[in-house]
Amino acid sequence: DNVQKGFAKDSISRYIDLENREVSLAVLHDEAIYEEELHRIFAKSWLMLGHDTEIPNPNDYVVRFMGEDQVIVARSPDGSVHVSLNVCPHRGMHVCISDSGNTRAHKCIYHGWAFRPDGSFIGAPVEREQMHGKIKTKKELGLKQARVHLYGGLIFASFDQNGPSFEESLGEMKFYYDMLFQRTDNGLEVLGPPQRLTIDANWKTAGEQSASDGYHMLTLHQSLLERGVMGGEPNSAHESAPAMYGVNVAGNGHTLRCIPADTTFTMMAGSTTEDMTDAQRLELMPPPGITKELLPQLAKHMSPEQMHVLAKAPPVVGNIFPNVGILFIYVPLRDGSLGSGLVLHTMNPRGPHHFEWSTWFFAENDTSENVKAMMRAACAQGVGTSGVIEQDDSDTWPHMSESARGVVGRTETMKYQAILGQTRAADWPDKAEVYEGFSKDDCQWNWWKNYHAIMTR
Ligand code: FES
Repeated sequence: DNVQKGFAKDSISRYIDLENREVSLAVLHDEAIYEEELHRIFAKSWLMLGHDTEIPNPNDYVVRFMGEDQVIVARSPDGSVHVSLNVCPHRGMHVCISDSGNTRAHKCIYHGWAFRPDGSFIGAPVEREQMHGKIKTKKELGLKQARVHLYGGLIFASFDQNGPSFEESLGEMKFYYDMLFQRTDNGLEVLGPPQRLTIDANWKTAGEQSASDGYHMLTLHQSLLERGVMGGEPNSAHESAPAMYGVNVAGNGHTLRCIPADTTFTMMAGSTTEDMTDAQRLELMPPPGITKELLPQLAKHMSPEQMHVLAKAPPVVGNIFPNVGILFIYVPLRDGSLGSGLVLHTMNPRGPHHFEWSTWFFAENDTSENVKAMMRAACAQGVGTSGVIEQDDSDTWPHMSESARGVVGRTETMKYQAILGQTRAADWPDKAEVYEGFSKDDCQWNWWKNYHAIMTR
């Protein structure tokens, strides 16, 4: 909190015009603001680091980032998951220099201090001779720990020891996220390690897009719509416009676009489900990521209100603030029905002008292996490092950052004035902020309002 305090607050208020809903491009370029983001957002938020099926065995580990801080995500012999700062308390070397592996002891290659998977200090070479005198106790020499929360197996961590709990940070949006992450007996399974690439852009370019920007579908992804790559029959952008109507939900900077099942079914099959009951519609059109044989599990884990949302307009795309993107990729299954694979992205800053883009594919654990393989293939083709969808998106973000490099360009603003305002149908649950209608800027403005609140707190 001591860093750049007054300056960044003033800058943020200068760059984000709350009244007119405009954000200066300078916010993508300003290095002092970036430094402040590392303190206020990435050192304090709950950040997604992966999934516990990536480290299934005792002593398994992966190395990930929380902002610019590298961490070891490891499973202890007792099964618990720990997130430790990958910085040796001796002289600051990275204790672990592999991306992933399995070890009972992480031994620093510099002078040999060693640490357990839970980060506690084991010992050092020639310990008695080297460490007698004023050296600290073993308890004090462990790796710095982050708080950890497992949510549907997703590993979230925060370095804010006194901040809100994970569930408090989700607020009422947890009602919707549970429909994606906590809905079956055996939960999600990650389909391989994350795919990663570095993009030459500020992390917020992808961050604000992930907050349910539906508008770009019609233009940026037009060629994919025309060729049927986004699922269903080839459509013109005009024919795809019905998918822009739906229910967008938001809270605390988290957002989801809920697209009516009937719209999706009509686009895929050419007929309507309008007169059907929830149960009939779910049978015909299971929610994204759920195959028909898993419907009984869904009913077991979801409340009637959640089942109604899943039948009427299931969440399909969105984000978890600050840096998780969520979407489903549709895949036609061999029985003629429509399946879909869950994709999670993170955008982790690597300086103000670059970010690491990581992508995980998921299936419900109880999905058949055959369908998992089809989901994995469809996700890789769509949103892998060379996926056809992400090539569109990842082309825009560097352009925006480049615009912000120009001293004139950065005086331009991003505009969020296409506001629908809160509207909630009588049968929609009273959870979070709800915007029903044509997808506009409401969700992304919610993202920026949350960003502004954190940066000026
Ligand atoms: Fe790690 Fe010295 S820096 S043991």
